[in-house]
Amino acid sequence: MAFQISLAMYVTLVCLALITLYGILKNIINSTYCYAIGPLFNKVNFKSKGKWALVTGCTDGIGKEYARQLAAKGCNIVLVSRNLQKLQATAAEIHIDFSVETKIIQADFTQEDIYEKISIEIEGLEIGTLVNNVGISYDYPEYFLQIPDWNDKVRAMFSANMVSVTRMMAMIMPDMVKRKKGVIINIASATASIPSPLLAVYGATKAYIQKLTEAIRIEYAGNGIIVQCVNPGYVTTNMSGIRRDSLLSPTPKKFVRSALALVGSANDTNGYYPHFILFDLITSLESLFKPFAEWATYRSMRNVRSRYLKKYKRQ
Ligand SMILES: NC(=O)c1ccc[n+]([C@@H]2O[C@H](COP(=O)([O-])OP(=O)(O)OC[C@H]3O[C@@H](n4cnc5c(N)ncnc54)[C@H](OP(=O)(O)O)[C@@H]3O)[C@@H](O)[C@H]2O)c1
Repeated sequence: MAFQISLAMYVTLVCLALITLYGILKNIINSTYCYAIGPLFNKVNFKSKGKWALVTGCTDGIGKEYARQLAAKGCNIVLVSRNLQKLQATAAEIHIDFSVETKIIQADFTQEDIYEKISIEIEGLEIGTLVNNVGISYDYPEYFLQIPDWNDKVRAMFSANMVSVTRMMAMIMPDMVKRKKGVIINIASATASIPSPLLAVYGATKAYIQKLTEAIRIEYAGNGIIVQCVNPGYVTTNMSGIRRDSLLSPTPKKFVRSALALVGSANDTNGYYPHFILFDLITSLESLFKPFAEWATYRSMRNVRSRYLKKYKRQ
């Protein structure tokens, strides 16, 4: 009997070790391909996909960097954002730095009557790359029922995060399908794949982007269109409120340089290797000890909420 138990235990341990080893090896192979080998062989010539790239939410942060780095690759840039002065300044900066053409379109993505105007403004432009970057989040982590200005805030998140991606793809893709080429980059968030307590609506809108992007990529795989979903962790922007960059919170420049290199080799990616390692650890932990992972993220978000409320004396 003792022998049978120890044999059973031995077999179980060996199986567990093999499964763990398989998981580690699979991740090493996948990440090495995605982040190191793939980009060497799948370099995308963005300009050859169409003369223009269109970026939403492009006067700051990640969106501005996509606009700049696509301009550096020779694309003319259509900038769509809400603040006219910032649009004009960004367009001038890009034109001077990269000698490409720019076009600005002022649009507030929390509104849903903007798409006809955008469609008229881009008529006749060959848009080879679409970056659906615009997105808004909570001002601070908050319980679902206590989100300040609930109706307006939740509606704004639905419009800016979900409707924008859906409508912009529906607007731009027909021409890409006709020309049998194009690149679509949809910016979701790493929060979409891990528990997002106190950011419930934001996390859910980003999960929508992931699902939508995956399905459209499969549907249009035969049409020469690259469809990529990027799921960043923290990046030093106004949205994150993080000012100093670090290994886990890169500058937008560092982040976008890494993410753009992965177009063509990674369909659904964190875009930046340290983020991949971090979120891979979190999802592995979640699959092993889900209640612990949920407790840890909830606790950490509650701390962020408390600090914010204390700072702004709302408690
Ligand atoms: N930063 C992060 O840590 C992080 C992490 C995960 C995912 N993301 C995602 O990355 C994307 C970009 O975030 P970010 O951190 O770069 O944001 P950001 O620094 O706040 O910049 C947002 C850009 O979008 C524009 N914008 C905001 N609301 C808009 C609206 N209603 N209509 C039109 N334009 C609008 C802003 O223009 P104004 O200057 O006029 O506001 C700005 O140019 C978002 O989808 C976000 O969810 C960010």
